[in-house]
Amino acid sequence: MSDQYAVFGHPVDHSWSPFIHGLFAKQTGQDMSYRKQDVAPADLAQRVNAFFTMGGRGLNLTAPHKSMGAVIADELTPRAETANAVNTLAWQKDSSRVLGDNTDGVGLVRDLRDNIGLQLADKRILVCGAGGATRGVLAPLLAEQVQEVVIANRNVGRAQLLAETFRSHGSVRGCGYEDVAAGPPFDLIVNATSAGLRGELPQLLPTVLDPETICYDMSYSKSQTLFCDWAIARGCREVYQGWGLLVEQAAESFLLWRGVRPETAPVLAVLLDHNS
Ligand code: ATR
Repeated sequence: MSDQYAVFGHPVDHSWSPFIHGLFAKQTGQDMSYRKQDVAPADLAQRVNAFFTMGGRGLNLTAPHKSMGAVIADELTPRAETANAVNTLAWQKDSSRVLGDNTDGVGLVRDLRDNIGLQLADKRILVCGAGGATRGVLAPLLAEQVQEVVIANRNVGRAQLLAETFRSHGSVRGCGYEDVAAGPPFDLIVNATSAGLRGELPQLLPTVLDPETICYDMSYSKSQTLFCDWAIARGCREVYQGWGLLVEQAAESFLLWRGVRPETAPVLAVLLDHNS
């Protein structure tokens, strides 16, 4: 039987992970199968346990399971510990323990740096949102020697607390959306809120950007996301959805599981083709 992998989410129907890992497996000649399974939050621990007891080799966890994943894993990689969230679980044969990892942050940085070609050093970055998605990407962004990261959030206290938590990683501060506008336009704005799920937008003032600002939505949809529409309507020339992040975080999970890094560019091209 092929080695078994899956993504657990709730809902999970929309997930492209089986498609992406299927292409990676084909490309690298790995004998594996990858399925999606809808798992309710209350069942997560038991389902993870059952999956690995039955010989499963690895899991991805997507919303709303990432925080719980950090509790369920037997041990965490340093980056999962820093993010306090897990999107990848791997069975470790030698110790019979489940390792939790977080590949979202490195996925975002790889997409920005290698696919989009953005040099992050010395850049001023605005991250909208102070939830789990932001928590996962802060340390890898700050590690790129950026000038500063500003976290803007509706709930200002949450942004400030997150900034405080990551202070030792670099220059980072938290504030509300109306406080962000003071200062020059940002080089990069990342939407890490879940506002788009409800057809809403973070309430950014247009002065936070100019035509040179790169706008990146960590979400994605077949049509352009609301945040991307908003940025384009304000004259932004470079606007991206999170398809590249999706493929890059998957490649990092694949590497952890199979010990081989797949080529991401051809897979991203197929994915974009399917969604254009
Ligand atoms: P995730 O794990 O996806 O980050 P989360 O932890 O629930 O999910 O966090 C969601 C983030 O999206 C929060 O920063 C939330 O802002 P608040 O902390 O102020 O609630 C943000 N968010 C959700 N809907 C939003 C909206 N309509 N406008 C602005 N921010 C929104």
